[in-house]
Amino acid sequence: MRYHLRVLRFAASYPPPSALAATTYSSPMPSLSVFGAQWGDEGKGKIIDLLSDRVDIVVRYQGGANAGHTVVVDGEKWVLHLIPSGILHEGKVNMIAAGVAIDPVALLGELDGLKERGVHVGPDRLRVAANAHVIFEQHKRIDALSERWKGAGRIGTTGRGIGPAYGDKAARTGLRMADLLDPDHCADRLRANLAEKNAVIARIHEEPPLPVDELVDRYSALGKRLAPYVADTGAELRAAERAGKRILFEGAQGIMLDIDHGTYPFVTSSNTGPGGIPSGAGVPPQMIGRSIGIAKAYCTRVGEGPFPSEIHGDEAERLRAAGHEYGTTTGRPRRAGHFDAVQVRYGLEISGATGWIMTKLDVLAGLGDLNVVVGYRLGDQRFDAYPAHLADINGLEMETETIPGWTEDISGIRDFDQLPETARAYVDRVEELVGVPIVMVSVGAERDAIIKRGEIFEPGWGAETVGATG
Ligand code: IMP
Repeated sequence: MRYHLRVLRFAASYPPPSALAATTYSSPMPSLSVFGAQWGDEGKGKIIDLLSDRVDIVVRYQGGANAGHTVVVDGEKWVLHLIPSGILHEGKVNMIAAGVAIDPVALLGELDGLKERGVHVGPDRLRVAANAHVIFEQHKRIDALSERWKGAGRIGTTGRGIGPAYGDKAARTGLRMADLLDPDHCADRLRANLAEKNAVIARIHEEPPLPVDELVDRYSALGKRLAPYVADTGAELRAAERAGKRILFEGAQGIMLDIDHGTYPFVTSSNTGPGGIPSGAGVPPQMIGRSIGIAKAYCTRVGEGPFPSEIHGDEAERLRAAGHEYGTTTGRPRRAGHFDAVQVRYGLEISGATGWIMTKLDVLAGLGDLNVVVGYRLGDQRFDAYPAHLADINGLEMETETIPGWTEDISGIRDFDQLPETARAYVDRVEELVGVPIVMVSVGAERDAIIKRGEIFEPGWGAETVGATG
């Protein structure tokens, strides 16, 4: 009875419906989201670098140093793992938000590397979430040991401690950046975490335990160095939105590596698409305006797990060599395959993408006729939508369509109409199969190696095209 009364009183305190309608949230400056629409390595780094010119703040909201974003500026190559690619644009603020798992060793290594090459990376340019979880040595160690334990069933992780750190977050035994800044608090919590991890390392994996005192001292010192960058990034982002700032959310990995919607268990441990932004960055969902997916003109995957359009042998080797398909973070050769229209359509659909960018079209030159996956088959069942309900998509038969290839080098072309007819036909047909407009085609690693086809930016963001980008 008492419970019932309490519910009634609570319900009565809600505002009446008309007042609710009047308080509907509307974003004063919707932000832009860019995410990987395949299994990662779609070339997001270059695109985010290119778009950064038009934004005030670039935000990472998930993943960790497992990502590897390569950017080439004036022939100089930059590889970033944790820091958003916007750091290469003077005056832009870059944020590592709460949903990212931060390895302080990797972050400081990256900061030092940028400083050595003359990039200003002070706290005015880099903000790190106080409530982001920290990746410690024990997470990296257990990542490697549990892969060894799994044997043939291993995921093929990047070994950066991602799964174990997010595991601690969910188990509520992790430490956050704020914990790292308070030496006593950090020591207590780190000791408790290490006690459990060391038991696992020693008793299950039969390996020497990690040195507790040494790690407590090491991480307290790292915390001190990172302290100036640590902030309430969620509050800063919400305030920035109110002030009309243009915010770009940078997704890492790809939608097929999403922990909920990807090829589980062969996925990473975070929500990689725009769905991860509100919780990962601490902002209202309505703040996300346009979402733009990035997908290669073909497909690759690194690590184990289902890859329906995978090719093997010489054909795969030619594609891998032409596209320099070796992991940015681990150097592993990437598995290669045909463009899979069923998979990309799925990735764009669940992310609400209004457009997508096709990257590395230049790589396909000289590779002969091109196959594109248009449907999957299982016995006499045909799927033209990605079958996310199946426990395992391995073993599905691919239905492909063959499109004539081209031999010309297209990396210098900046105008869609100048492309060889066959290359244009490939882009048009893939766009038709996917059913979402291709707003840009990338034909090389350099910033300017792009062909514009449609609108990327939010209508309120000023100039209408990407023409202003450097
Ligand atoms: P983890 O994120 O290191 O746990 O690795 C899980 C899976 O995601 C493995 O198959 C990795 O190869 C893959 N993965 C993680 N990060 C990336 C990335 O940035 N690009 C491509 N694959 C990735």
